[in-house]
Amino acid sequence: MSATLDSLPSSSREPSGAAPSPAGPPVVAVVGGGQLARMMAPAAGELGIHLRVLVEEPMSSAAQVVTDTPVGVASDEAAIRSLIAPSDGVAASVLTFEHEHVPNALLTDLIEHGTPVRPGPHALVQAQDKIVMRRRLTELGVPCPRWAPLPASSPEEGRAALAAFLDEVGGEAVVKTSRGGYDGKGVRVVSSPDDVADWFTAVADGGPALLVEEKVPFVRELAALVARRPSGEVRAWPVVESVQRDGVCSEVIAPAPGLSAELDGRAREIATTVAEGLDVTGVLAVEMFEVAGPDGGPTVLVNELAMRPHNSGHWTIDGAVTSQFEQHLRAVLDLPLGATTPTAAWTVMANVLGSTLDELTDALPEVLAAFPEARVNLYGKGIRPGRKLGHVNVSGDDLDEVRRRAIAAAALLRGEPVETTTEEEANA
Ligand SMILES: Nc1ncnc2c1ncn2[C@@H]1O[C@H](COP(=O)(O)OP(=O)(O)O)[C@@H](O)[C@H]1O
Ligand SMILES: [Mg+2]
Repeated sequence: MSATLDSLPSSSREPSGAAPSPAGPPVVAVVGGGQLARMMAPAAGELGIHLRVLVEEPMSSAAQVVTDTPVGVASDEAAIRSLIAPSDGVAASVLTFEHEHVPNALLTDLIEHGTPVRPGPHALVQAQDKIVMRRRLTELGVPCPRWAPLPASSPEEGRAALAAFLDEVGGEAVVKTSRGGYDGKGVRVVSSPDDVADWFTAVADGGPALLVEEKVPFVRELAALVARRPSGEVRAWPVVESVQRDGVCSEVIAPAPGLSAELDGRAREIATTVAEGLDVTGVLAVEMFEVAGPDGGPTVLVNELAMRPHNSGHWTIDGAVTSQFEQHLRAVLDLPLGATTPTAAWTVMANVLGSTLDELTDALPEVLAAFPEARVNLYGKGIRPGRKLGHVNVSGDDLDEVRRRAIAAAALLRGEPVETTTEEEANA
């Protein structure tokens, strides 16, 4: 992979090791104050690492549990500069992120002035722009769905290119905005250019470019999670199945049921190739589709990348020796990575997406009584329909039971009526 690294502009590379803090523990500066930054806090506390998080609002999810939380937005250069500048005499050892929407030119400048930025801007761009990502993955030989960028020169040319692609793939395809999408916003299944007429108009008005992909007839969705540190060490967790509802992850099953050791190895190998090929530092999630290969046996295609802890890795908090949040901190500080071994046969993570309750904590008496083994994690966010408000992890030996209980506990937190017999009662 050295050829890949050599081809990077020298300004976007950085020396390995974290910049030493003049005094005290290392300071990890994180851009973004949502649940991902919040879930870094317990691991930082345990390792004695100081977290400093740029939060959007004083009561953002992360600000409720982290003590050092300047307020500002990721697009504000001055806010990011002051995030890494000395505070009480201590500058940030490293800058990292809980989302990819950050200004890359600024990051390059910070690196030139001596602050390690992990992952670096040369890697981040591949997670910010789905067209850039597809091009690079194709160059790396990573298997992807058939795809094409849609010309942004004029709506007519864009529509003609989409119509041609639809003809080629049999009438149905998936159009995506190259930038700014998340949780299925920015992804649409189409059978005619009219289905994305509004997006073509938006492109003409300066909105993000579009790409089209074949609609993959996947058996299920998988995610391969790895972490890589600047000195090169890479560790991968077992590959998981992720279940989406309306484009949003609703459940993760770890490890993916029935996945052969061969395909697990193949998916991990692809994620490692991506981490090394793009010089990713920190946690990398590679979303994949499991499909029938040319010989009929199962194989994988890469959907997209996230260069940060990811929803598909929340199970690791309670189901693996090292959580993705601790691993991300270790990786960005260039510390030895932790074991990724599962601590139970199965762990199922169920997301709490929206709730009819006034406060999620109102459900705690019932949830904790009914599911004493469940690991409940609430994010302290305001309730909105479909919003990711928390998750529940349940581990055990019986996958059906583990899955049923994780889903039921999450349903209670959404305010839905649920049959809450305990395992003991059910067995009595
Ligand atoms: N080419 C495709 N074929 C079939 N389904 C797709 C395709 N691309 C995306 N999807 C579905 O849409 C979901 C969201 O798409 P993704 O590109 O991951 O966007 P987001 O950035 O919103 O997560 C995927 O998890 C998958 O369920
Ligand atoms: Mg996705």
